[in-house]
Amino acid sequence: MTTNRKPLISGNWKMYLNHFEAIQIIQTLSYQLDASDYEACDVSVHPPFTDIRSVQTVLESDRIPMILGAQHCHFEEKGAFTGEVSPGMLEKLNVKYVIVGHSERREIFGETDEHINAKVKAVFKHTMTPILCVGETIEEREEGNAQSKVRGQIQNGLKGVGKERVASMVVAYEPIWAIGTGMTATPGDAQEMCSFVRDCVKEIAGGTTADTIRIQYGGSVKPINAAELLKQPDIDGALVGGASLEADKFARIVKYRLH
Ligand code: 13P
Repeated sequence: MTTNRKPLISGNWKMYLNHFEAIQIIQTLSYQLDASDYEACDVSVHPPFTDIRSVQTVLESDRIPMILGAQHCHFEEKGAFTGEVSPGMLEKLNVKYVIVGHSERREIFGETDEHINAKVKAVFKHTMTPILCVGETIEEREEGNAQSKVRGQIQNGLKGVGKERVASMVVAYEPIWAIGTGMTATPGDAQEMCSFVRDCVKEIAGGTTADTIRIQYGGSVKPINAAELLKQPDIDGALVGGASLEADKFARIVKYRLH
């Protein structure tokens, strides 16, 4: 089994931080993180669209090796889609990772597995990497349906995507009941589900792909629980919401290996 998957710690800022605040937090983070942190793990930030150009400028002019990400995009190249942003527009801003199918997009904005599959393909077409989010509600977990929900999301999300592309992407397992609630999954439960995600990838794209793909855990990741979660063999990173809005907290999560 491959164990050299480089962890990816991602900050999903959601609809927080305007572009002034974004510049400030990136600068603060850049003082708190050093070369050894970037060597130990990849770090991405996913600001709101209105911040992306400002964050790009700071990262590039100060040569900060943080990776620029986005939270969402449309799957079409262009068109009459009021309010939407195309993958090509993100690529032009040097965005590298795009979160696709976050539960908030699925639950609040009605994104379907079909939309999400189209987005995964569109992101790849623009030489960016999708972070495909999957996860169950509390009811689905209590009814014993967590695995069937997640398996369906993975099968549909990856439909028609070649093995090499699947190997290069990221799946974020984010149980909906753990998002923004402070109710983190136990390291054991998170490991069990991330291992299950890897098994699903294996069924679809084979063992080598499953050994290579990176699987993040998301849902109330904090400095205090990051190390224990990231120690699990099938957890290759974290998708962090609330705690990524404060430089100190996010830096401590990135430095989880030192705790
Ligand atoms: P919290 O870390 O705030 O629970 O959010 C998790 C999340 O949704 C990241 O995408």
